[in-house]
Amino acid sequence: MTPTPFTRPDWVPRVPPGMRILIAGASGGLGSALVAMLLTGPDCVIGAHGATRAAKAKDRRVIPLKKAFATESDCADLVETFCGKAGGIDALVVLTGAIHFSGHWQDMPAADWERDVQINLNQPFYLARAALARMKAQGTGGRILLTGTESAVHGGSPTSFPYAIAKRGTECMVQGLAREGASHGILVNGLRFGFIASGFHERWHGRTAEDMEKRAALVPLKRGGHADEAAALMVFLLSGWSGFMTGQMIPLTGGDWL
Ligand SMILES: NC(=O)c1ccc[n+]([C@@H]2O[C@H](COP(=O)([O-])OP(=O)(O)OC[C@H]3O[C@@H](n4cnc5c(N)ncnc54)[C@H](OP(=O)(O)O)[C@@H]3O)[C@@H](O)[C@H]2O)c1
Repeated sequence: MTPTPFTRPDWVPRVPPGMRILIAGASGGLGSALVAMLLTGPDCVIGAHGATRAAKAKDRRVIPLKKAFATESDCADLVETFCGKAGGIDALVVLTGAIHFSGHWQDMPAADWERDVQINLNQPFYLARAALARMKAQGTGGRILLTGTESAVHGGSPTSFPYAIAKRGTECMVQGLAREGASHGILVNGLRFGFIASGFHERWHGRTAEDMEKRAALVPLKRGGHADEAAALMVFLLSGWSGFMTGQMIPLTGGDWL
């Protein structure tokens, strides 16, 4: 089958004007695409962790934030710093993620397990907990988006099992946070990404162009997802059009694992 390539529609979803959005992992492939898409819309305030292209361009709507945040207090500090600069927080998007060991999980050193759990599970929890508390105190509702992976609902793979365990934990987080936030108008959802061509696989798995082609051939739609397709879904989940959705993991997979 010849893949149907991604063709860019002539419209993009929009967030409400003035929305204050903190993006953890804004420097990554999907984070950069999200920032770029948000900046094509009406004014919003973006707290970008990491050095995004937009932050480098010194766009007045982008607040660059410090890169390292490993502990609970780092995460709480990131949320508070953003709130101090933006005057509050309407949305948190967590797009950080990493795989620290490329061999079989049976040989994985304990230190790498700890690092995988720290970035893929602890950090989203601490960030989301701090943001939820802030949003509750503001009393104006809010949105939280977390990131899972489709492979986690199938037991991961030999080289991504610990990452998948941590990512599956974020799915539980989405449900529990959504239950907690519902009566405050705080909606919590998650993205369950499949194979998206964002640079992630080359960076953390050392995949070559040939590896990427082989992997794409396993997807029923015969290609990787485009970073802008992920960004558009996230903007939709931040917009008023998703106001009746909470506690859901939304797959974006090209039919992977069918
Ligand atoms: N692309 C896919 O196929 C796919 C599939 C399933 C799930 N996901 C998930 O989607 C999310 C976005 O990934 P992506 O595709 O955009 O990958 P990416 O380009 O590798 O981005 C990863 C982001 O995480 C940040 N990060 C990594 N380790 C960190 C640490 N210790 N502390 C703080 N930040 C850290 C990176 O910051 P620096 O660049 O500054 O290091 C970067 O902003 C991740 O949660 C990933 O697990 C992606």
